[in-house]
Amino acid sequence: MESTPRHKIPATLIPGDGIGPEVVAATVQVLDALGSPFIWDVQQAGIAGVTHCGDPLPDVTLESVRKNKLALKGPLTTPIGEGFRSSNVRLREEFQLFGNVRPVRTIIPGRYDEIDLVLVRENLGGFYVAHEYYIPVGDDPKAVAVATGVNTRDGCARIARFAFEYALKHGRKKITVVHKANILKVLTGLFLEAARDVARDYGGRVEMSDMIVDACAMQLVLNPWQFDMLLCTNLFGDILSDQLAGLVGGLGMAPGANYGNDTAIFEAVHGSAPDIAGKDVANPISLLLASGLMLEHVGKGDLALRLRTAITETLNTDHIRTRDLKGTASTREFAAAVVRRIEST
Ligand SMILES: NC(=O)c1ccc[n+]([C@@H]2O[C@H](COP(=O)([O-])OP(=O)(O)OC[C@H]3O[C@@H](n4cnc5c(N)ncnc54)[C@H](O)[C@@H]3O)[C@@H](O)[C@H]2O)c1
Repeated sequence: MESTPRHKIPATLIPGDGIGPEVVAATVQVLDALGSPFIWDVQQAGIAGVTHCGDPLPDVTLESVRKNKLALKGPLTTPIGEGFRSSNVRLREEFQLFGNVRPVRTIIPGRYDEIDLVLVRENLGGFYVAHEYYIPVGDDPKAVAVATGVNTRDGCARIARFAFEYALKHGRKKITVVHKANILKVLTGLFLEAARDVARDYGGRVEMSDMIVDACAMQLVLNPWQFDMLLCTNLFGDILSDQLAGLVGGLGMAPGANYGNDTAIFEAVHGSAPDIAGKDVANPISLLLASGLMLEHVGKGDLALRLRTAITETLNTDHIRTRDLKGTASTREFAAAVVRRIEST
C-alpha cells in the first residue's frame, strides 16, 4: 500500500463539467505555488462521470471521498427538467453534508462596499428531497405537478446549532433566520421554531432575528449591511446565495463549503457556465476562495491568508481581472498573476 508523505493531506479533486476543469486547473496551480499540503486523487462526476465511467456519480469517486473525507469540486452539470438527479445533491446526501456555508466579502469596491456576510444553508432537506410527481388528468399525463418538501425538527435544530457555533467561532454577532412561515407554515415554520429553540442557548452571545424570504431579498438590495449571517432553508439559501454573490461582483467571487460530521467538500457557488466553457475566460476566484476555506479547514489559516492577499493584490494593485470583472485577463493569465504575487511575498 502506498503511504502518504509526511505533512501531506490526501484529498479528492473533482474537475467537474463546463468551466470546472479550467477553474480547477487554475486553483491547483495557485495551491502548488503556495506549497499547499494537499495530495490530489483526481476523480470524475457529473457529465464527465458519465463520459469517463458511464455514471454521473461513479463508485470510485464516492470511494475516494469516503476515504479522504475531504474534496475540492468543480461545478457539475445537471440536466434541466429531465435526466439524472443532481450529483451535487447526491454527494451531499451520501456524506450527510448538512451545513452549506457561503461567505461573501467585498474585494473589489463597487456598487456595494464593505460587504461581509455569511449565508448558512440547510443542505439536505426542504424541496431538495425531490419527492415530485405528476398526476395525469384525461389525456394529459402531466396535468398536475406535485412536490413535497421535508424538514425534520432534528435536521433544523442541527443546522441552527451549526450556524450559532459558526457565529461564535468566527466572531459573528447576529443571525437572521430566513423563512416563509406565513405561507409554508409547516415546512418553514418548523425551521423557524427549531432555530428559536436553539437560539435560547446562545442568548447574550449571538442575537437572532427572522425575516420572510421575499422581504429579505429586497432588504439585501436596499441595505445589505444590516445583516451579519443568514440562516436559510435549502431552497431559499440556494437562491439568496446567488444574490449575495451579486453584491460582491458576481458568481466569480463566491466560494462555498459543504460540511458534515466527518467529511467536507469545497466548491464555488456557481455552476458549470456552459455559455463560457472551454474559452479560458472563466473567473477562477470563487474556487480559489473555496480552496482557502479548505486550507482553513485543515488548520492552514496562514496559507489561506496568503492566498486571499495575493488575490486582492492581483485584482486591486496589479489591476488584472477576468472579463466578468470588466478586465481582459484569461483564466490562465489571472492564475499566473496570482502565482507571481505569491512567489514575490
Ligand atoms: N455546485 C454546482 O456544481 C452547481 C451550482 C449551480 C449550478 N450548477 C449547474 O451548472 C449548470 C449551469 O447552470 P447556470 O447556467 O444556471 O448557472 P452558472 O452559475 O453556471 O452560470 C450563470 C451565469 O454566470 C456566469 N458565470 C458563472 N460562473 C462564472 C465564473 N466563474 N466566471 C465568469 N462567469 C461565470 C455564467 O457564464 C452564466 O452567464 C446547470 O447544469 C446547473 O445545474 C452546478
